[in-house]
Amino acid sequence: MVGIFDSGVGGLTFVKALKSALPNYSFVYFGDTARVPYGNKDPETIKRYSKEAADFLLSKGADVIVAACHTVSALAGDSLRENLKVPFFDVMNPLAETVLNTSKNGRIGIIGTKSTIKSLAHKNKLEECFSKSKGEYSFKKLEVFEQACPLFVPLIEEGFIKRPETKKIIRYYLRDLKLKNIDTLVLACTHYPLLNKQIQSAMGKNAALIDPAEITVKAIIEFIKNNPQLDAKLSKDKQSQFFVSDDPERFANFGKMWLDENIKVQKARFS
Ligand code: DGL
Repeated sequence: MVGIFDSGVGGLTFVKALKSALPNYSFVYFGDTARVPYGNKDPETIKRYSKEAADFLLSKGADVIVAACHTVSALAGDSLRENLKVPFFDVMNPLAETVLNTSKNGRIGIIGTKSTIKSLAHKNKLEECFSKSKGEYSFKKLEVFEQACPLFVPLIEEGFIKRPETKKIIRYYLRDLKLKNIDTLVLACTHYPLLNKQIQSAMGKNAALIDPAEITVKAIIEFIKNNPQLDAKLSKDKQSQFFVSDDPERFANFGKMWLDENIKVQKARFS
């Protein structure tokens, strides 16, 4: 089974992308809704929570684990990759090439939670990939501009997607990025694709928005294709299981809204 975890409901945007690309595969999801948000916690705490989440998914039979959370990917991705005994994917590592290929002018923006932006992980990854390149990108100099947008997650979770207040807050956070003439903007938080239209209209049409979920799903599909032994282990009976550490009903409501389907959600019991 494919195991997916997130700090809470945000990973449902990843589930949506995964389900549309691999509709028959079964997966098990864990959302740490009792301890969300991770986005303002320190790296040690995020590493500890992430390890507990991954162990929980292993106990449910996951054969591959995906951290569908940028805060986890930025702060705990490397340690999970080193320590897990099953293949591990995060939503940050597969990004760099696509992002650099998308940009024409080498001016790239990244938005995410406070912890993600403070870690500089996405920025460092892009710079590392660019410095190893041999002139294959259409620009000679890379400039990465980052912005934390801490109010986006609570606004989305409160359903304030189309509210005028939200538009104002989006414009407020993005005002500096807008002045930087960026042509590519990475949505480095699982919630942000839900504000896609509003972010696009605040940035203008010259900035291409990148949703990392789609890129990560492609990387997973490629990996599965190249590893038939792993693929043989993954069940394909369309059975999805959702576990949360707090209030299954609230999560099920998000499932209904964001996945457009009724999902059965169980309370996770840690042994
Ligand atoms: N899912 C988180 C992320 O992608 C955002 C929510 C949180 O702060 O935990 O970074």
